[in-house]
Amino acid sequence: MKKNPVISPSFVIEESLLRQNLEILKSVSDRSGADILIALKAFAAWKIFPIIREYFKFAAASSSFEARLAAEELGGLAHTCSPAYTNENFDEIMNFSSHITFNSLAQFEKFIPQIQKHPYKISCGLRINPEYSDIKTEIYNPAAPGSRLGITRSALGKTLPEGIEGLHFHAMFESSSVSLENTLKYTEARFGDLFHQIKWLNIGGGHNITNRKYDTGHLVSILTSLKERYPNLQVILEPGAAFVLNAGYLLATVVDVVESNGIKTAILDISFTCHAPDCLEMPYKPVIQSAYPEPVAGKPTYRLGGNSCLSGDFIGEYSFKKELHAGSEIKFLDMIQYTTVKTTMFNGIQHPNICLNKEDGYLRTLRRFTYNDYKNRMD
Ligand SMILES: Cc1ncc(COP(=O)(O)O)c(C=O)c1O
Repeated sequence: MKKNPVISPSFVIEESLLRQNLEILKSVSDRSGADILIALKAFAAWKIFPIIREYFKFAAASSSFEARLAAEELGGLAHTCSPAYTNENFDEIMNFSSHITFNSLAQFEKFIPQIQKHPYKISCGLRINPEYSDIKTEIYNPAAPGSRLGITRSALGKTLPEGIEGLHFHAMFESSSVSLENTLKYTEARFGDLFHQIKWLNIGGGHNITNRKYDTGHLVSILTSLKERYPNLQVILEPGAAFVLNAGYLLATVVDVVESNGIKTAILDISFTCHAPDCLEMPYKPVIQSAYPEPVAGKPTYRLGGNSCLSGDFIGEYSFKKELHAGSEIKFLDMIQYTTVKTTMFNGIQHPNICLNKEDGYLRTLRRFTYNDYKNRMD
């Protein structure tokens, strides 16, 4: 079949690479007996869900919208965990969730009467704060002192409140199995006496399972030994990024090259603040195909600038084999996790298309964004 070209700018999900990740995750779930949920916060391009559903049916949601999307498009009720539920969204949360995790005892006490009256059973849990994490990027550390996320051990008694069936912690980010082992050790030291009182333990996301260097055998042994220590527990993981790690790219094109104080900036048809905000927030420097990740003496070197008015909307520098000019294509690798879910239409900049490169090489454009998408957000 003749391949159709990718139109810039586009996020392109590669079906074959996505399936490789799904196979790895499925094999971990099968070998360990742990349940794996897809955390929609990392990836929610729902037209891809039919592929994901071949392997996994359930999602972790952070809001009523995510829970509804999980139920409508993935086909299963969500495990929902939000820092705070409101009177306005709680009915929807109940309608689309099989599990609801509360971030405080006050929130659990407020909503438990409604849950008890609900026509079908919803399993309730509490988010705990292990007060340990080896995350180095503070903005991603939910276990930092003073964190609003999760209940600390000192705030819980020896017996969990009636109606609590699960505990949930999330304290990892792009982490190895060794990091999980350490986090689990600390969590068990603090909360292990409560593990006999619950039915499920959700050990959150941040597991870098589909990274080539990740030791899945070690992960499986950690999970099976956890299950041996607490046979009462259904162990649940909710990775997000691992589902789409390295499973696609963002194609952008140089629109102009400007120079100021000896610094050359290639201005692109995308914006980092709008389309890849983690590049500025973390900050994170993505890999670019066929470019050097750092300046190389003697090679054409550029900052890459976004097409917005934000002065800081640039990354780099990178060196390239050839000079960049208007029309040069730039392929940012591993650009599917936490991008399409976080994008904005700040400055009214054209939003990249969302495409699926099918296994047979046929490119399907799932979504093109238009002026009306921009306009309708602000009626
Ligand atoms: C509660 C919770 N669960 C799961 C995840 C997914 O993490 P990741 O995409 O790093 O696997 C996150 C990420 O922030 C989270 O906050």
